[in-house]
Amino acid sequence: MNNQSEKLFDRIRGLLAKDLGRFDARFADVLERQKELLSEKELALYTKGKKIRPILLLLSTRLNTSKPQIELDEKVIAAAVSLEIAHIGSLIHDDIVDNASMRRGLPTFNASRGYEFALLIGDLQLMESARVFSSFVSTVDDIKLMQEYLDTGYELCKGQIEELVNETSEWDPKKISQRYYRIIDRKTGRLISFACEAGARLADALPSQVKAMRKFGMFLGRAFQIMDDVMDILSPTHKAGKEIFTDLRERRLSLPVIYALDTAPKTHAIHRVINGEQISESDFEKACEFIKSSNSHIKAYNNARISVEEAKTELYQYKNNEYKQALFDLCDFVVDRGYQ
Ligand code: IPE
Ligand code: IPE
Ligand code: MG
Ligand code: MG
Repeated sequence: MNNQSEKLFDRIRGLLAKDLGRFDARFADVLERQKELLSEKELALYTKGKKIRPILLLLSTRLNTSKPQIELDEKVIAAAVSLEIAHIGSLIHDDIVDNASMRRGLPTFNASRGYEFALLIGDLQLMESARVFSSFVSTVDDIKLMQEYLDTGYELCKGQIEELVNETSEWDPKKISQRYYRIIDRKTGRLISFACEAGARLADALPSQVKAMRKFGMFLGRAFQIMDDVMDILSPTHKAGKEIFTDLRERRLSLPVIYALDTAPKTHAIHRVINGEQISESDFEKACEFIKSSNSHIKAYNNARISVEEAKTELYQYKNNEYKQALFDLCDFVVDRGYQ
């Protein structure tokens, strides 16, 4: 993150200081339970994320709560913790399927402990997340929220599975980009959207507000994944904390890759990578260079920018305040971080 982004996150952490303090304490309890399984360094992997999902949930609750000074219900804190753990579990499993060796600047579990351990420690996070979420369920509304949460996890898995299957036999860019959007809405959009929606529901917001927060999160989540895919091309490893060009190496049809494929000659190395042909490292580099020097990432960025602007319009019914401003600033952070 650059200075401007650091400042934004400092400001948001200040705005949510009390809530995030409680979040950290409850999150530490979860880590405590796993101390016998993991080293200090491995546990550090858990705490190093941007915590976008819990932050969105807390901002959404604050935006939808009429009394600004009120202490949030413990349910809200538990839901925020639960989402971060589910996210961590999904990353651990994602690093297995992507053959990734680095996450948040540290070795992935699959790299340091092997596939079996990573698989099971990922399972453990998903169970732990459900346990924390269920710990506060006491009303019919809570049960409905938990069902929505489980649906979200199901959709996330479905998106990840769909992404694994390449359908490039018939090259139809329109169909392939529609498929891309369907996948990213499932694997990333849904959880981010759920974070925003859950925040509103836990604040007993009106149905129109719940809907607005859900749609806000969906547009934001879509942009979030598009820019993650752009950063897979542009962001140096030391900044991103994960390896560059993982998507291409794993033959993932991300939006910038789709745009690049559409303009490259059919015999170009980038097509051969995606078709799964055996290619040399220097040909792989040619494919990377082609994507970097094409305007494919700029076209992808434009789509992400449009999506966050749509997200912002969903919040028109809320009056301006520091929570709404923080959500708007996060929208800009999500798209601009790719070029920082
Ligand atoms: C990475 O998510 C995985 C995607 C859904 C793109 P984040 O960018 O939120 O990862 P952390 O939690 O900050 O490491
Ligand atoms: C994975 O997408 C999103 C998840 C649902 C975990 P990516 O594979 O692009 O995420 P990174 O780049 O590894 O963080
Ligand atoms: Mg990945
Ligand atoms: Mg990625």
